[in-house]
Amino acid sequence: MAVTQGAAPAGRLAGDVVVVTGAARGLGAAIARAAAEAGAHVLLGDLDGPRADAVAATLVAAGHSARGTTLDVTSQQSVEASLQTVLEWQGRVTGLVNNAGRLIEADVVSLTEEQWDAVLDVNLKGAWRTTRAYVPAMIETGGGSIVNISSLEGLFARPAHVAYAVSKAGLLNLTRATAVDFGRSGIRCNAICPGSIETEMLTQHLEATGDADAAASDLIGRNRTGRLGRPEEVGATALFLLSGEAGFMNGSHVVVDGARGATT
Ligand SMILES: NC(=O)c1ccc[n+]([C@@H]2O[C@H](COP(=O)([O-])OP(=O)(O)OC[C@H]3O[C@@H](n4cnc5c(N)ncnc54)[C@H](O)[C@@H]3O)[C@@H](O)[C@H]2O)c1
Repeated sequence: MAVTQGAAPAGRLAGDVVVVTGAARGLGAAIARAAAEAGAHVLLGDLDGPRADAVAATLVAAGHSARGTTLDVTSQQSVEASLQTVLEWQGRVTGLVNNAGRLIEADVVSLTEEQWDAVLDVNLKGAWRTTRAYVPAMIETGGGSIVNISSLEGLFARPAHVAYAVSKAGLLNLTRATAVDFGRSGIRCNAICPGSIETEMLTQHLEATGDADAAASDLIGRNRTGRLGRPEEVGATALFLLSGEAGFMNGSHVVVDGARGATT
């Protein structure tokens, strides 16, 4: 097997069953790849079901165990259908990565109520919907690990990102609440706070500024690594949190931002 940068040694998740939301592209696809390369059976869920299927097919072609499914985290019915899919496929689920997310750019005053609801419904309520559906199934088969993809914006505010920043901050306390409520039942729940990572979401954000190159230089200038982050670097972090190596981590968050949040 080819070992790419950020890929885990095979076997760290051998036999595990992991569901990744928003896995058709970007961070979700990279997290799914890291988990599959580490030996997990991976269900890739996304609003864009055909694209999730296509990513799963590349993993299967590389010798891994994966399948795609259409999943809308704003629908409890769709979330429960994804749980049935993974249980019918593998009989249990040991890992859940709440990665599906969206960004609407508007400041505190110009943001509409519909925009507030739309962002919170995916980024925060969506993660709660999956968590409340999956936790009982995980407990029934011995517990599991949940990883919530928050953001550096869960810790700090960025101009004109109020709904996004609020949703990501809420996700950090959903993470702690899940750990506190179900840690004794074998559930670990941790979060990742990525900085700026090269994905379609980031590209769309940069293009919306009208000068993508200048906006990218500005973001890079805010960290101490001199580049944007790579999806596989978040994938490697998620893999660690999913694995037993993080067995005493619960209710925590890990920042993956090239020291951007460390600067004044
Ligand atoms: N890229 C970054 O710089 C960055 C930084 C910090 C946090 N994040 C977070 O990481 C996660 C992934 O970001 P990305 O950059 O890969 O984004 P992306 O926009 O490239 O991909 C997001 C995926 O989520 C899916 N999705 C959206 N709504 C959904 C829904 N209702 N149900 C199921 N799937 C849905 C989309 O179809 C898409 O495939 C998001 O939660 C994002 O907020 C990204």
